Amino acid sequence: MAPKIRIGALVSGGGTNLQAIIDACQSNRIDGEVVFVGSDNPGAGGLARAQRQGIASFVIDYGAIIRSHAAAASVAPDDFDPDEIRHKQHLFGPETSRAKVDGFLLTRAVAEAQLLEKIANYTPDLIVLAGFMRNLTPYFIDRFNTDPAHPRIMNIHPALLPAFPGVDGYGDTFRYGCKIGGCTVHFIDYGEDSGPIIGQKCFPISEEDTLDSIKAKGLALEWQLYPACIQLFAEHRLHTIMMTYTDHGRVTQRRVVKIARPAAWQGGKH
Ligand code: GAR
Repeated sequence: MAPKIRIGALVSGGGTNLQAIIDACQSNRIDGEVVFVGSDNPGAGGLARAQRQGIASFVIDYGAIIRSHAAAASVAPDDFDPDEIRHKQHLFGPETSRAKVDGFLLTRAVAEAQLLEKIANYTPDLIVLAGFMRNLTPYFIDRFNTDPAHPRIMNIHPALLPAFPGVDGYGDTFRYGCKIGGCTVHFIDYGEDSGPIIGQKCFPISEEDTLDSIKAKGLALEWQLYPACIQLFAEHRLHTIMMTYTDHGRVTQRRVVKIARPAAWQGGKH
């Protein structure tokens, strides 16, 4: 049997997805173990779940880092190159002021350098964002994803991407009047919820549904989808390839995920 993968989780809130992942590891639905839980939020319920399970946990207090930067400009990590990171990131478009973008990227690099230092103690194979409400920047992503062809940071998002990226996927789905909602697991890239899609699940929305009922339906699907996608990673079945296509006369490149069949599958009928 292949060795279990080492999974690091980052959470900001209650951590029901984290719990689903821990449970799936314990019941061998994921060939892996959660080796740490990190949070940007000292009050995250996910931290208490980690402690109850005897999983190492830590906090990098993004709020405190951002507040202290507002009082006196933060000192950048030695290896932070603002021009490189600004050029790579897709979180902000040209309409956002340079000062705002630079302040954001500097404070995140300070936080992300601390995250990387903590994470190095646990040598994870995969990082899962499980309700982590902070965008990671290229500073962090490039230092963890050392091989661009093998991304290893996953996120779960409460909408059918590429619709409704951002912080309120179910709310946006509900307010738009969608008749179907869903959730998406994807690898992260330099944009907001824009990376290669690994898996999606959807549910119908009827006239009787409320925002709360939509969230409940969606979360129940998230708890199935995330462990299933992590297991595909553990089985080395997720491969990413660059697709080049012409879109209204413009050549576009996109990295997409292909899911390999299980090794035992020989072709033909089961
Ligand atoms: C989940 O619905 C997850 O999809 C969402 O936060 C919730 C966390 O719940 N994530 C995002 O919106 C990321 N942008 P949980 O803490 O109970 O797992």
